[in-house]
Amino acid sequence: MNFILTTPLYYVNEKPHLGSTYTTLACDALARFHRLEGDAVVFITGVDEHGQKIQQKAQNNGISPEEHCDCISSHYRGLWKRLDITNDRFVRTTSNNHIQIVQSFFERVQRNGDIYLGKQQGWYCVGCEEYKDIKQTDDIPRCSTHLTPLEWRDEENLFFRLTKYQSQIEDLITNDNFIYPISRRNEVKKFVQNGLKDFSISRINVPWGIPVPGYKGHTFYVWFDALLGYLSALLDDGGTNDLSRLSQCGWPASLHVIGKDILRFHAIYWPAMLLSAGLQIPKMCFGHGFLTREGHKMGKSLGNVLDPVDLLNTYGSDAVRWYLLKDIRFGQDGDFQRQRFEDLINNDLANTIGNMLNRTTSMSRKWFDGLVPDVDDQQKCQSTEIIRIANDTIDLVRSKLHNIEFSEASEAILNLSKQANLYLNDNEPWKKVKNKELKYDVEIIIYNVLEVSRIVGILLIPILPDLSSKILNQLAFNLKLETWDSYLSWGLLQGSTELPEPTPIIPRVDHSSER
Ligand code: MSP
Repeated sequence: MNFILTTPLYYVNEKPHLGSTYTTLACDALARFHRLEGDAVVFITGVDEHGQKIQQKAQNNGISPEEHCDCISSHYRGLWKRLDITNDRFVRTTSNNHIQIVQSFFERVQRNGDIYLGKQQGWYCVGCEEYKDIKQTDDIPRCSTHLTPLEWRDEENLFFRLTKYQSQIEDLITNDNFIYPISRRNEVKKFVQNGLKDFSISRINVPWGIPVPGYKGHTFYVWFDALLGYLSALLDDGGTNDLSRLSQCGWPASLHVIGKDILRFHAIYWPAMLLSAGLQIPKMCFGHGFLTREGHKMGKSLGNVLDPVDLLNTYGSDAVRWYLLKDIRFGQDGDFQRQRFEDLINNDLANTIGNMLNRTTSMSRKWFDGLVPDVDDQQKCQSTEIIRIANDTIDLVRSKLHNIEFSEASEAILNLSKQANLYLNDNEPWKKVKNKELKYDVEIIIYNVLEVSRIVGILLIPILPDLSSKILNQLAFNLKLETWDSYLSWGLLQGSTELPEPTPIIPRVDHSSER
């Protein structure tokens, strides 16, 4: 099955922050999961480089918009490389291909009679690149997100006939599978039921944008341009920029993952634009929550923006991935707390998963000459409780990841490790090993926990790819296939396999870490 997955295309006004890192990591986990399930994945990310906000930023820095975009785009690319993000495409909206695609998309929409010239009046927020629904007043209102004063605009713009698509969009929103999580579906429904309005798709006096063919002085509104970046990315496979090639490239998108603030653009404007151009609409939009820091909204003015590079330097990528994917329920808001972050890494990764593996491989070295105990096939599959729990966990993790429930999937993997540690404690192989008659029992106990560790290592591939490969290396278990079906059954660890010297796979975090 095709699985076309997108992150938002991030504005290049600033370097990436923890919010953009969050979405990208979540999408990376999903992309890895779907590849393991055998889907043909195209994982798209990229940057949104046009508009007044970026034009102003470059100006303030005394450089050209091109130089500014090159610089910030390379920060994005660099961070994704550092985090080992497995995106298949990285689109820049300043690329020539994208510019051609935007212009030919516009021509389709125009041919369909959906473009007209009109007057746009209203309060505009450059930070949001959006008109706000506020009446004209004598006092200058402020943006509720950026807290900056809004600007009054009165200009000639090109409009898109969104009103024509009212009933089609209503039908789409009522479709139970289009918007997730469900709480957000209701917000969008309400907005649509209040009646859609045509929206302007061009700007005058914003030279840093794509020129609108046939309308001198007009450039495309940054959102009209940016959403089309998903199409440009998909067509960027060495073929032509012809929009009619999209379906053969796998369009429509299976899933757009976005923050809750931009759900409206993806769930309303974007499908209407696609309908107008005669293209298929995406199958699902997931609007995740926002990250705050120690209870406060992250913002430059508050001076509390968390730099993902600092976190990576201090704790490594497994720690950052685990915290963001396990601790925050995807869809809800989450608060970053340093103490909680460190406790989670120590308790879950070092003490539970790391310890399960380390103590068992150490016992194997001590009692079985560093080999996996050689238990026979019949004993391997004795239906002990721990085998049942492992098999149930496999099913649970797969279904949770299918449902985009990272936190629940991670919790299930952690729980399996906890059960394995309890199983060791209850069975006390260190006492039994002193009794020669119980040698067989000890072999089975150790085999079972090594095998649980292998399954934990496999299940962690999409969530913590680095830690997963460290676990599997410690078990001398090599992966030859790209899909995981054949690795997800009990008893695959071969008896008499030589295990390497046990080394801790994840260090405990020292609470005195640099802040
Ligand atoms: N350029 C547009 C998207 C165009 S998509 C065709 C844009 N860019 S953005 O850089 O401002 O935001 C990108 C994403 O980051 C959005 O999904 C937004 O919700 C998300 N986040 C910004 N701050 C965030 C947090 N503090 N926490 C989580 N996500 C946040 O909008």
